[in-house]
Amino acid sequence: MSGLLLQARAAAPAPVALRRARIALAGCGTVGGSLIRLLRERRTAIEREQGVRFDVVGVLVRDLHRPRIVESAAGVLTNDLRAWLGHDAEIVVEATGAPDVAVQIARATLTRGRCFVTANKALIAAHGPELAALAHTHGGRLHFEASVGGGVPVVRVLREALRHTAIKSVRGVLNGTCNYILTRVAAGESFAEALRQARWKGFAEADASRDLDGRDAADKIAILAWLAFGTDPSVLPVLRRGLEHDIDAMLAAAAVHGGVLRQLAECFLWEGGVSAVVEPVILPPTSPFAQAAGEENCVAIETRRSGTIRLSGPGAGGPPSAAALLSDVLQAALPEPGPRATAPSPRADERLHAWAITTPSGGVAPVLEALGAHGVGVEWVRTAPPSRLHALTTPVQRSQVTAALRALEQAGLSPVAVRTEAG
Ligand SMILES: NC(=O)c1ccc[n+]([C@@H]2O[C@H](COP(=O)([O-])OP(=O)(O)OC[C@H]3O[C@@H](n4cnc5c(N)ncnc54)[C@H](OP(=O)(O)O)[C@@H]3O)[C@@H](O)[C@H]2O)c1
Repeated sequence: MSGLLLQARAAAPAPVALRRARIALAGCGTVGGSLIRLLRERRTAIEREQGVRFDVVGVLVRDLHRPRIVESAAGVLTNDLRAWLGHDAEIVVEATGAPDVAVQIARATLTRGRCFVTANKALIAAHGPELAALAHTHGGRLHFEASVGGGVPVVRVLREALRHTAIKSVRGVLNGTCNYILTRVAAGESFAEALRQARWKGFAEADASRDLDGRDAADKIAILAWLAFGTDPSVLPVLRRGLEHDIDAMLAAAAVHGGVLRQLAECFLWEGGVSAVVEPVILPPTSPFAQAAGEENCVAIETRRSGTIRLSGPGAGGPPSAAALLSDVLQAALPEPGPRATAPSPRADERLHAWAITTPSGGVAPVLEALGAHGVGVEWVRTAPPSRLHALTTPVQRSQVTAALRALEQAGLSPVAVRTEAG
C-alpha cells in the first residue's frame, strides 16, 4: 500500500493545457508599466500554476516618445484610441486615470461582453453601478481591486468573503500619498519635500490636490460603501474635509493631544441609512490607523456576525497596484457576485473635536462664548504661549462645529478643529 502511495507521489504532474489570453492595456505609466513588468516576471510561474499565457496585444498611451519603465513589443504601443479599440483582446486593463477615455473604454469593452479590469477609482465611483449593469447584461466582467487600497485586497474581501456578515461600518486610511506626507511631516520634513518624494516614488500624481483635499479617498470610500451596503457611489454624498491648508496646525494639535494625525475615510450604516465622511482625525498612537505609516493603507470592517476584520499593506505605488491588477486579470474567467445598488440615506453624527485657536485679547472667555453660542461644550481648554489656545470639545454634530468655526473665523481667530479619538 505504502509503495503504491510513494509511486503516486513521485509521478510527474500531468501537463496543463496552456490557454492563450490576450490583454489590451490602456495606460503605461506607474501602474500600467508595472503590470507589464510583473506579467513578464511571473510569466513562467503563471503558465505553470494557472495554465494561462497572456499576450499583451495593444498598449494605449498619450505620448509615444515618452521614456517608459518597460519597453513594449514593436507595433503594440499606440496613441490612437480608435485603432487601439479595434483590438481582439478578451481582457482589457485600464490604467490611464483619464476620465473620458476610461469611461469610453469601459463601456465599449463591457458592451462586447469582455472583461474590464481597472485601477481607476474615480471611474468606479462615478459609473460603477452602470458598468456592473452593462457587464451583467452583456455577459462581461468588471473588476476593480486596484482602485481601492493599492495592494490591500479589500474589494474582494467585501465583494466575496464578507457577503453575509452584516457589515456595520468600513473605516480606513485609504490614501497612500496623504499618509506618506503626514508621516514624513510629523517626523520633521517640510511639506514641500514630502510631496516631492511622494511624486518621485510614484504615489502622488502631478496634481496631488485630489489626494490632499480628500476627493481621492472620498471616491474610494464611496466604492467601499457600495460593496458593503449597496449604496450607489455616484449619488452617495461624502462629507469631506482636506488637510492641505491647516496641516501644521493640525499636527500641532495632534501633538498636544498625544495622538497621531491621519486622513480617515469612513462609511456607516445608521438605522437603514448610510453616511460617509473623509476628514483628518487625531487617533490614539495604539490605533491600527495611527500605526499605518508611510504609503501604507489600513481598513477595518466592522461586522455584526464576524467582529472586526482588519487589512493593511502598501496602499500606493506601481508594484502593489500591478499585483492587484494581475490578481483581477487572473480572476477574469471566474464567476463573480453582482454588487447591489440602492439609494443612500446620509445621517450626521456627533464627535469629539480638538481645537487650536488664536487667543483673543480678551482671554479665553470670548472663545467659550462663541463655541457655547453654537451648542459646542468644552471639556478642557489650555493656553499655549505665546498666542495659541487648545481645547477639547464635547461630542457635537458637524453642523455645529462648522457654525462655531465660521464665528471664530469672523472674529479673526484662525480656528482649526480636528475630529479626535485620542481625547
Ligand atoms: N500611482 C498609484 O500609486 C496608483 C495606485 C492605485 C491606482 N492608481 C490609479 O491608476 C491609474 C493610473 O495611475 P498612474 O499612477 O499609473 O498614472 P500615470 O503614471 O500618469 O500613467 C498614466 C498612463 O496613462 C496614459 N494616459 C493618460 N491619459 C491618456 C489619454 N487621454 N489617452 C491615452 N493614454 C493616456 C499615460 O500616457 P503617457 O505615458 O504617454 O503620458 C500614461 O501611460 C489612475 O486611475 C490612478 O488613480 C494609481
